[in-house]
Amino acid sequence: MSTNITPQDLEKVNPLAEDFLPLLGTDYVELYVGNAKQAAYYYQTAWGFEPIAYAGLETGRKDSVSYVLQQDKIRLVLTSPLQPDGDINKHINAHGDGVKVVALWVDDATKSYEETVKRGAQSYMEPRTEEDKNGTVVFSGIHTYGETVHIFVERKNYHGAFLPGFMPWNKSYKTQSAGLKYIDHMVGNVGWNEMNKWCEFYAKVMGFAQLVSFDDKDISTEYTALMSKVMSNGNGRIKFPINEPAEGRKKSQIEEYIDFYNGAGVQHMALATDNIIETVSSLQKRGVEFLTVPSSYYETVLDRVGEIDEDLEPLKELGILIDRDDEGYLLQIFTKPVLDRPTMFFEIIQRKGAQSFGKGNFKALFEAIEREQEQRGTL
Ligand code: FE2
Repeated sequence: MSTNITPQDLEKVNPLAEDFLPLLGTDYVELYVGNAKQAAYYYQTAWGFEPIAYAGLETGRKDSVSYVLQQDKIRLVLTSPLQPDGDINKHINAHGDGVKVVALWVDDATKSYEETVKRGAQSYMEPRTEEDKNGTVVFSGIHTYGETVHIFVERKNYHGAFLPGFMPWNKSYKTQSAGLKYIDHMVGNVGWNEMNKWCEFYAKVMGFAQLVSFDDKDISTEYTALMSKVMSNGNGRIKFPINEPAEGRKKSQIEEYIDFYNGAGVQHMALATDNIIETVSSLQKRGVEFLTVPSSYYETVLDRVGEIDEDLEPLKELGILIDRDDEGYLLQIFTKPVLDRPTMFFEIIQRKGAQSFGKGNFKALFEAIEREQEQRGTL
């Protein structure tokens, strides 16, 4: 990840957002998992992430182990406890495997902490500096929904593999990239009537602005419903949609998530690609499972979205969905949950002008999720 961009360089694509908290991008996403070694192997073999750094007994860490994987700008950290009864154990016990940290890359972690805490953020970690022979990193952190936290990472004076305390992890086993480029957006599921509270948190505490809002009329099928608002930071690099369940005839997928995660948490990460057909073909060959829509979706989709550059046949074969807005179109597909509990999943997205989130696909998509819920007995 290059570090040559200063906050002053950032063009404002969201003029409503107030930029007292310039964010350069997502630094990393850390999951607490039951078996980090095997999870790391899954993200290497199935998803094409490269191993880059490691911390554990060999680096002097006694209580936990972390594997760091990277694909283009996307960095995942997988952490497991080595001892009983610690915070990581409690997190896994309550939530199963899941996202603990959405780390944000900043120019000044101390100021990021002061500005957000001053506006009401609950402190998770006061600013602290760590160093090794590769330089220094300043960290600070605040709480967000559920037990999820944001850590601000200031790494302009650091040149190591990942962070101080990690050693480079150069495995002889090399994985093949799936063409994933960066995190397009990260979605949080929160409980009943909590969406506005957390959107206000991102607006007031972090200076984000609301890009778009969907109510239960936009996002409902015959049986289930949810509501969603999309919050974005000033330069548009960080987009956090927030979902809450809505009343329907059957159980909302958001309620199912909250039940199994035991509270609010990250529902999905959308990973961007420049060639969704190649990316999804490659992921499917390696065993990643996606939700499918009925083939009737493809009989009418071009009437709805108009002309597209791609042939329809491979999109249909792979189950890729298409939507259009005023600025262009987008291609997207969603995996089944990638953990034991029906909680977190991934979206693969290719934007061709469109800056929206696939509203035209919500109904087909949610009907696909309902079919899965039906099989789980959670509808
Ligand atoms: Fe999404």
